[in-house]
Amino acid sequence: MGLTVGVVGATGAVGRKMVEILAERNVPIEKLRLFASKKSAGSTVEYKGSEITVELLTEEVMKDQFDYLLFSAGGSVSEKYAPIAAEAGNIVIDNSSHWRMTEGIPLVVPEVNPHVLEGYRGIIANPNCSTIQMMVALAPLHKRYGIKKIVVSTYQAVSGSGQGAIDELENQLKDSNYPNKVYTRKIVGNCIPHIDVFYDNGFTKEELKMVYETHKILEDNSIEVNPTAVRIPVLYGHSESLYLELKEEASLEEVYTILRGTEGIKVVDSPAENQYPTPLEVAHTDDTYVGRIRKDLFNPNAISLWVVADNLRKGAATNAVQVLETMEKQKLNR
Ligand code: A2P
Repeated sequence: MGLTVGVVGATGAVGRKMVEILAERNVPIEKLRLFASKKSAGSTVEYKGSEITVELLTEEVMKDQFDYLLFSAGGSVSEKYAPIAAEAGNIVIDNSSHWRMTEGIPLVVPEVNPHVLEGYRGIIANPNCSTIQMMVALAPLHKRYGIKKIVVSTYQAVSGSGQGAIDELENQLKDSNYPNKVYTRKIVGNCIPHIDVFYDNGFTKEELKMVYETHKILEDNSIEVNPTAVRIPVLYGHSESLYLELKEEASLEEVYTILRGTEGIKVVDSPAENQYPTPLEVAHTDDTYVGRIRKDLFNPNAISLWVVADNLRKGAATNAVQVLETMEKQKLNR
């Protein structure tokens, strides 16, 4: 017997990717149901060569029985519908930020903290896209050396803001006078240091997600995280410049060995051959790529890294599907 899986927000940038990845990874699905708003209910989405009709999301349909429901329809949809689905006994893997910091809700990167899924039923949160790739790269270093401080600047693709933002950049690439609706400025030919809303402390919500989600996933609130999140005119793939202060001195040789030996990481770092990861090369793959690994010139305990991953895949849809796969594996091992 295969699984019954639902995707909520199946017509969006991440939702479509979820459907694609469920097919690609051959998740043993017997019945796949897709949900969206009335705007696209009745339209179809392709899955393994057949067209599946998108259903209208209602409270009633969330009470049907599913093995897994993958949500990516925004925070307010998750706030309202995920508890109804969970109450009906369904496992919800939610890509929105709504439930991430709620106590008792697991926040999971399967390579980093799969143990929190063991025996769990209910709502599970997928972390923020920038947090996910940072966690994949940093968790093994935190385990070996302990991380004292992270200074991170992000270079984030527009697909992280949904299909509307992809359309906005593509239209502005054809006509630079095409008006900005998603962003506060034109994104073509620009970079915008503003992702999500500003808080009184000067940080944006996106930046604070990276702080508090890091603490929750690594189960260590002592790590000092200082992010600056920036939107750039790239379609797919987030990049991050990371400066890490470790609790002890690390040899570069050992850092390479640790990262090369970690599931989900590919090290691409050969400056002599101009080898380093870029979003154009990394897009449409599932790994987290690390390059430009170097020691700080002044602090022997500090290193810098450049980390790139596909935000719609590892930063969202792939991570959610890996959560499902991890739970299925845990079930078999029980
Ligand atoms: P729809 O296509 O009907 O608007 P994106 O992040 O790319 O903008 O996609 C958002 C996804 O969430 C889309 O599939 C969208 O469906 C869905 N969505 C947005 N609001 C709702 C809602 N109130 N109920 C159900 N689905 C929603």
